[in-house]
Amino acid sequence: MANVTFSSPSMKKDVTVYAVAGDTQTLLSVAQAHKIPVHFECENGECGSCAVEVMVLSNKTPCAVALTEKEKAVLRLSGKITPEQIAQAENADTPPPYRLACQFIVRNEDIVVKF
Ligand code: FES
Repeated sequence: MANVTFSSPSMKKDVTVYAVAGDTQTLLSVAQAHKIPVHFECENGECGSCAVEVMVLSNKTPCAVALTEKEKAVLRLSGKITPEQIAQAENADTPPPYRLACQFIVRNEDIVVKF
């Protein structure tokens, strides 16, 4: 089970929800299920409107970072990720600072999501 804490100036307070381990939901799906107002348009990794800042809280070895090709392209074009951060994510599982909520699969690690 993972705690996912959503934080935004558009919400009165931070909201923490629980994502069940083994689920393969996107972060956007988790947000929608809990009525968290993460902005989105295409839901397909193409528009970049769902870009969120993600911070991993756990002290465990980070889960493998799986950036989709769409996610890499959109985040690079919007200036939210550098080629070096992509390489670090792919080679050393170092989480990049921004992800696309519609592409990010929630796994068994506690995270804070800012949007
Ligand atoms: Fe368009 Fe996520 S909603 S990239």
